[in-house]
Amino acid sequence: MIIAVDGPAASGKGTLASGLAGHYGLPHLDTGLLYRAVGLAVADTADRPEFEQAAIAAAKALDTSHLVDREALTSAEAGVLASKVAVFAGVRAALFDFQRAFATQKGGAVLDGRDIGTKICPDADVKLFIQADSKARMERRARQLEKRGVVVDRYALYHQIEERDARDMLNPHGGFYKADDAHLLDTTLMGIEAALRAAIEIVDRTMALK
Ligand code: DC
Repeated sequence: MIIAVDGPAASGKGTLASGLAGHYGLPHLDTGLLYRAVGLAVADTADRPEFEQAAIAAAKALDTSHLVDREALTSAEAGVLASKVAVFAGVRAALFDFQRAFATQKGGAVLDGRDIGTKICPDADVKLFIQADSKARMERRARQLEKRGVVVDRYALYHQIEERDARDMLNPHGGFYKADDAHLLDTTLMGIEAALRAAIEIVDRTMALK
């Protein structure tokens, strides 16, 4: 069983995907980490002419050892760099095989990102598209950061989230839209447990109809 979970920044898709993976005993790949690792690898060339070529080279050279430093990978800076390298078709193409291999491993997998249901796994058994309004997403991300001791400027964070959404949605190579056969789950008013229960219900219902 392949489960595709897509949604915008801080929508809770990662937590949901990891909860679904735990529930069904499937491996989970947060595909945002791949783009974040590429972004961090080329942080020094950002805004220089060689940025695109450097990003493509970094994407081709990516392996699991680049996915270990979660603290650096999940920083806001890495998120911004990730959304910048994610607009390059060459980067997306280089990361395609890695994601595809993960998705098609024996027994299945859960992948979360932006284009899983549309580009990486159009054949997924169940597709979820997670939504939550920008203010709710900002508040969740702010609390995550504050738990780590980071001092948060909520106004700046809100704008950063809106800016990243715009870049992700306008990305011509991004595939970031709800697939026709994806189930929409709006988590604005839900805590994580309620959202996970709702997601499990959707997966069970969809699989029962197969
Ligand atoms: O989900 P995230 O915040 O970790 O993603 C970081 C950036 O990577 C996001 O701004 C867009 C990009 N991304 C993408 O283009 N496609 C994916 N499947 C996952 C992430």
